[in-house]
Amino acid sequence: MKKLQNKVAVITGGASGIGAATARLFVSEGAKVVLVDLNEEKGKSFEAELKALNAEALFIKANITSEQDVADLFKQTVEAFGKVDIVFNNAGIGRVQPSHELEYSEWRNTVNVDLDGVFLVAREAIREMLKTGGGTIVNTASMYGWVGSPGSAAYNAAKGGVINLTRSLALEYAEQNIRINALCPGFIDTPIIPEESKQVLSAATPMKRLGKAEEMAKAVLFMASDDSSFMTGNALTVDGGYTAQ
Ligand SMILES: NC(=O)c1ccc[n+]([C@@H]2O[C@H](COP(=O)([O-])OP(=O)(O)OC[C@H]3O[C@@H](n4cnc5c(N)ncnc54)[C@H](O)[C@@H]3O)[C@@H](O)[C@H]2O)c1
Repeated sequence: MKKLQNKVAVITGGASGIGAATARLFVSEGAKVVLVDLNEEKGKSFEAELKALNAEALFIKANITSEQDVADLFKQTVEAFGKVDIVFNNAGIGRVQPSHELEYSEWRNTVNVDLDGVFLVAREAIREMLKTGGGTIVNTASMYGWVGSPGSAAYNAAKGGVINLTRSLALEYAEQNIRINALCPGFIDTPIIPEESKQVLSAATPMKRLGKAEEMAKAVLFMASDDSSFMTGNALTVDGGYTAQ
């Protein structure tokens, strides 16, 4: 029996990196997937790739910082597939810049996507799940939600916020059968990491390599599926040992 048979999963940031790897794994476990992303070109071509594998996939272009876009994407999902069982709340952006040079508008933009956007998607997901009797949400935080690093104040503050947002929402909806957990990746080999940084980040990781998006997908599948049926309000760190240092 496949782990996500007949489940409908919404994946934000689904056109690339960790979101795309998770979509591939979810489809192989029987899920219907809705790929949500700002990047229409990548999203559409990935939708076509999944459909060619006989998967049920739908790409929706949406900006997670827009209340209207977020409401519309859930409406479209329900119209297409009838319900929402799983939300992988994963879209995000990164930026490295000394804090004394960071414009307030840049701070706002990062926090807007990486924290406000996560809230907007979670809120709409919860509204749908309350109608159908439950579901699971996995929010992507970061190991930088636990520890600091120079030059990423806005990102790190937002990711720390995602961890405690996850705990708070999990407590609020535990009795409604909505389980909410977070993934805290270490340095993962995706387009968000600049090519020129990869060697330094590998060397900084105890396992001396970057993580793979597929390794994140397996942790997400665990939290999204019944394999983690007694787990909520947790933040699972998958970082090659970085935060153990
Ligand atoms: N790769 C890493 O090392 C790493 C480490 C820790 C956490 N993360 C987190 O993992 C998540 C996925 O990142 P990734 O590494 O797969 O990077 P990625 O850049 O490959 O994927 C992120 C996707 O999110 C989309 N996106 C960005 N802003 C959006 C918005 N406003 N609305 C809709 N879509 C938007 C992008 O278009 C992109 O396709 C992010 O939240 C990131 O912060 C990544």
